[in-house]
Amino acid sequence: MAYRGSIIGCGRIGSTIDDEQVDRPQFRYPWAHAPAIIEAKGVELVAASDLREEQLADFKHRWGVTALYSDYREMIKKEKPDIVCITTKVEERAEVVIGAAEAGVKAIYATKPMCRSLAEADAMIETCRKHGTILAIACHKNWSPWFQACLKAIKEGEIGTFSSMACNYGWNLSNGHSHTLALFRLFAEAPAKWVFGHMDSDEAAARNSDLSGTGMIYYENGIRGFLNTGGWLNIDFIGLDGWISARNEHADFEMWGRHPRTREPIRRQFPNPKRPRSSQQAAIEGLVNNLDEDTEPLCPGEYGREALEIAIGLRESHRQEGKKIELPLADRNLRIG
Ligand SMILES: NC(=O)c1ccc[n+]([C@@H]2O[C@H](COP(=O)([O-])OP(=O)(O)OC[C@H]3O[C@@H](n4cnc5c(N)ncnc54)[C@H](O)[C@@H]3O)[C@@H](O)[C@H]2O)c1
Repeated sequence: MAYRGSIIGCGRIGSTIDDEQVDRPQFRYPWAHAPAIIEAKGVELVAASDLREEQLADFKHRWGVTALYSDYREMIKKEKPDIVCITTKVEERAEVVIGAAEAGVKAIYATKPMCRSLAEADAMIETCRKHGTILAIACHKNWSPWFQACLKAIKEGEIGTFSSMACNYGWNLSNGHSHTLALFRLFAEAPAKWVFGHMDSDEAAARNSDLSGTGMIYYENGIRGFLNTGGWLNIDFIGLDGWISARNEHADFEMWGRHPRTREPIRRQFPNPKRPRSSQQAAIEGLVNNLDEDTEPLCPGEYGREALEIAIGLRESHRQEGKKIELPLADRNLRIG
């Protein structure tokens, strides 16, 4: 029997964002959460909630769902969804995630950034743990068939000993780069130990949101991550004998290694997935498997919290004149936004 799926927040990423993506084929349809649930195996879209009447009317028109609610608690009580996508703005995220877990939802797929403060992140993780709710953060690139192929190639030794990752992205460190940091954590396979950062200006460092700058993350197993505001989402995964690059907002993947005899760099075929799915669909199907098999999602709440912790740590490093900042941070009231 299929799980019951629902949406809280019928705005862009919840419902309408695919209207905007006609010329970016690497954002495979479906990107919005509602059609991703419809497309995914093992789950059906049964209900949705939004505070705005016009969003609910639009949702009904697009997706044919008639169980529509302005109060998400009432929706959970009446419709008993197993999987809930939470696609409200960051300001509401902690309250809604905690409310859904307390109402008995089995799995939550909450969009990024996870929340504003470390205290909120702690409370979200703790409440979900207490109620046995799977908490996944919708940094959906972690489920992308291309990034999964990249991870597999690295694990199979295609670029030699994996040492570091570098990402340029023209977005701020806390929001857009939350995708990068979730990927970094997945590829590093270890928690972040310390960071240091340099913001674009003292004025940028003084702000509590929209951080732009550069940072280094050192993971517990010695893997390093380098983060930079600028460019258009290029990520290099670097090994001692080669590298894999995800270029142009992951439209193209390129893999280089060394010739076994000459040791010269040679371009190799990146193992593109043969039957690719959208990363958002793959994530929802991943949650179905997590529920069936009692396993962890590819981007659990802990990864979302670490992304926030790193962004805050980079800012604090700048504020303290480039000091190395050990994680986790002691002051849980620190926040972004
Ligand atoms: N992963 C991605 O690729 C991606 C892309 C775009 C946006 N986002 C993230 O998604 C979040 C939402 O962004 P958006 O552009 O979709 O915003 P949006 O304003 O278009 O949609 C949010 C919706 O949530 C509704 N809402 C707020 N509180 C609610 C509540 N208590 N119950 C029910 N509905 C409620 C609002 O009425 C609104 O319709 C942001 O945090 C953004 O960073 C992620």
